[in-house]
Amino acid sequence: METAEWTAVDRYITDRLIPPDAVLDEVVASREAAGLPAIGVSPPQGKLLQLLAQAQQARNILEIGTLAGYSTLWLARALPPDGRLVTLEAEPRHAAVARANFQRAGLAARIELRVGPALETLPQLAAAGRGPFDFIFIDADKENYPAYWEWSLRLARPGTLIVADNVVRNGALADPHSADPRVQAMRRLHELLAGEARVSATTLQTVGSKGYDGFTLARVQADAP
Ligand code: SAH
Ligand code: DHB
Ligand code: MG
Repeated sequence: METAEWTAVDRYITDRLIPPDAVLDEVVASREAAGLPAIGVSPPQGKLLQLLAQAQQARNILEIGTLAGYSTLWLARALPPDGRLVTLEAEPRHAAVARANFQRAGLAARIELRVGPALETLPQLAAAGRGPFDFIFIDADKENYPAYWEWSLRLARPGTLIVADNVVRNGALADPHSADPRVQAMRRLHELLAGEARVSATTLQTVGSKGYDGFTLARVQADAP
């Protein structure tokens, strides 16, 4: 694996295509200062999420897994002024850091942060009649991706784009004997996608500063039951 080279290329891309941004720099600094892990999306990946949300003309975005709000802000900036983003985070300590970042970014009014395990907050969203969402980003605890996938379908409409991070896992995705429950969850996700006539999906392998991983993209084609 050539992680140093991948990181150099990420830097090359970032230097040219992603203008310096004081707000996003502060998100990274606040995450470091709070001792939270450096597991948010990279700058080129954040920009990809933003481009996809813009292509969707998304007005209603759902994110599962907030951390310090780095990906959240990339996505929230894709929204029109009356657009809304709901982001779900289990850890109150992460949520507090994210909340401060949404304030600093001037986007707090557009972002609703719900604290608690997503398997509790997702049913609450559904019960409250929230959605359908135009764009959904799944990026929380990996073992629960199959369940997050099912909830995402319930909160989607025909045309919704669902994106899931960290699905390739250093190539372990193709290993049927992996003992890692996160890998098994990603394989289960692919089985669910394979058996789901209502969506059209692909998975794109990626390399970069975060190593070798990948995104699943799934477009809902027909109404979920
Ligand atoms: N999307 C962020 C990174 C998220 S890291 C970015 O790219 O900037 C994954 C986050 O999911 C962590 O903050 C973790 O606390 C949160 N998480 C873990 N388990 C969760 C659960 N059951 N429900 C909701 N959030 C969870
Ligand atoms: C890690 C990376 C992620 O993008 C994520 O969402 C969770 C964990 C990691 O590298 O451990
Ligand atoms: Mg991730």
